Amino acid sequence: MVTSLHSAPALHAAGDDVIKVGLIGCGGRGTGAAVNAMRADANMQLVAMCDVFPDRLQQSRRVLEQQAKQQGMAGKVNVSDERCYTGFDGYKQLVSSDVDVVLLCTPPHFRPQQLRAAIVANKHVFCEKPVAVDPTGVRHVLETVAMAKQKDLNLVSGLCWRYDLGVRATMEQIKEGAIGDIQTVQENYLTGTLWHRGRKENWSEMEYQVRNWLYFTWLSGDHIVEQHIHSLDKALWLMDDQPPKVAFGLGGRQMRTEDKWGHVFDHFAVCYEWENGAKTFAFTRQMSGCSNNVEDYVQGTKGSARILHNSVTGGDTTWRYRGAKPSMYDVEHKELFAAIRSGDTINNGTYMSYSTMLAILGREVCYTGKSITWDQAMKSEMDLSPTQYEFGPVEVPAIAQPGKTPFA
Ligand SMILES: NC(=O)c1ccc[n+]([C@@H]2O[C@H](COP(=O)([O-])OP(=O)(O)OC[C@H]3O[C@@H](n4cnc5c(N)ncnc54)[C@H](O)[C@@H]3O)[C@@H](O)[C@H]2O)c1
Repeated sequence: MVTSLHSAPALHAAGDDVIKVGLIGCGGRGTGAAVNAMRADANMQLVAMCDVFPDRLQQSRRVLEQQAKQQGMAGKVNVSDERCYTGFDGYKQLVSSDVDVVLLCTPPHFRPQQLRAAIVANKHVFCEKPVAVDPTGVRHVLETVAMAKQKDLNLVSGLCWRYDLGVRATMEQIKEGAIGDIQTVQENYLTGTLWHRGRKENWSEMEYQVRNWLYFTWLSGDHIVEQHIHSLDKALWLMDDQPPKVAFGLGGRQMRTEDKWGHVFDHFAVCYEWENGAKTFAFTRQMSGCSNNVEDYVQGTKGSARILHNSVTGGDTTWRYRGAKPSMYDVEHKELFAAIRSGDTINNGTYMSYSTMLAILGREVCYTGKSITWDQAMKSEMDLSPTQYEFGPVEVPAIAQPGKTPFA
């Protein structure tokens, strides 16, 4: 079985075979990822699409057909009506089709089940972040990551800063010792509010929540998981992808007082401590009218760095990345398709799972008000899944209260 799977990448080695792509989750990012995939390979085609909602799928299909035409890639969108799959089980039909690559771009809750289905069906995967919303989901993904490795399937993560050439070069400087040993990292993701899609009378509570998934922890993980993961992933990278020992934190919901914001917080501040004493102080806020800042500040024994600024200061000298700056989203897909063609294998699975867990740990220390160790978090049985995936009533969870909300 393994032998036949090893031959899968070689099938495309010559570059003259069409690599067939299927998109699951046809929203903003999914539509964008499909365009990135089109730009990445001369001989690929988007042949299948899936979204739980038919209106979202058709809108994305129209946008993609239009964009492909405008960018001189019209032949790359080849999605027939028969290959448009909808509903909660649509992904099962898409992964059973003859696509070679699956782009997973649904809300984070669905990632563990959809990633498993794609890998079981022997597909290469582009997997958006985060990869789960609870520890049960993270462990499920880690098992799937091991399956992908065994099958030599490519698994590229949407933690896009790992594919940014300036960030990579800055990280390289730090890894080579330019600032000495890392003592502290400050991660800021201080930003405004995001979209809200309203409520229509004919929507069930389940439809309302799935359409407004950002505001329900079972779907998004809360914004520390959904958005701040980009910063936390860089903190993990700085620590050689080794997880911290323990964390504590403070957070709350100061401005999101109306029901429309579901039950998520609007700010979090978390301190993570590593075995060697290094600490990461992570701050994230989604509020309008405040000062915004998104940056990673690293302090070492011999100097300091700003990761997104691409600068490293050691002694009297400051190094700055001045090289090429292609879109990191394009680079993700270029490297994925190049690996498929060359027979190499990329597997970003471990760090994408750990970064997700780092963010879940941060959320839980703030929700509960307790210090929690990495080991406790990894062993937690917490599973935020609903009892069934059906459009009908679904519980609106209570807002977490530090000191009262228990860690499951
Ligand atoms: N890497 C990045 O920079 C980046 C940027 C934006 C979003 N994202 C991530 O991409 C994912 C999607 O975000 P988005 O902004 O595109 O959201 P979105 O709401 O615009 O798109 C999500 C789509 O998935 C569909 N969907 C929901 N549940 C589904 C299911 N069970 N099966 C099939 N389709 C389903 C929705 O109907 C929607 O069309 C999220 O995980 C988000 O964190 C990453």
